[in-house]
Amino acid sequence: MGNAHKTYRKRARRLYRILIVVSVLALITAIGAFYFYGDRHNSEYIVPPKKLEEGQIAKSLDSITGFIQAPGMQETITHCTPCHSAQLVTQNRMTKEGWLSTIRWMQETQNLWDLGDNEPIILEYLAINYAPQEKGRRENLKVEAWYILKE
Ligand code: HEC
Repeated sequence: MGNAHKTYRKRARRLYRILIVVSVLALITAIGAFYFYGDRHNSEYIVPPKKLEEGQIAKSLDSITGFIQAPGMQETITHCTPCHSAQLVTQNRMTKEGWLSTIRWMQETQNLWDLGDNEPIILEYLAINYAPQEKGRRENLKVEAWYILKE
């Protein structure tokens, strides 16, 4: 065998090795890309369900007024949205007494009419669905170890 032929075979083998290394790297990159981007891409189409606080119940809102859908909503819409937006009502949180005194205040000063038989229904709806929120404060911090700040 000639010298030139030997060199050719050596070069061919080296080229072959490089080819294998490159293909293995390409495969690893492809698998990695699939895991990272394929997964992330898919997750864009999955809207995670909203996490509810403990004891909270999922509520659906009326699409026009934004009122919580519950018994008494229709009466509340009828009597509480002719003068102002529904948001003026829904942004408030009051006890039953608070809602009643707001209604009385509107009747005395803002020409709100007598709600008649609908008053207890509306009051019940507001007191249940727009009650003051108890969990206003966050929990106290748990300090494992105190340390002294150096000046
Ligand atoms: C006759 C008209 C009228 C109707 C009907 C009416 N309101 Fe009002 N309401 C008013 C006016 C006027 C205000 C004051 C608006 C302002 O300050 O911009 C008001 C204010 C409010 C406020 C804010 C009070 C505050 O202290 O800021 C709430 C809450 C409210 N209304 C709830 C209700 C509820 C619940 C009903 C149904 C039972 C209702 N309103 C029906 C006229 C009305």
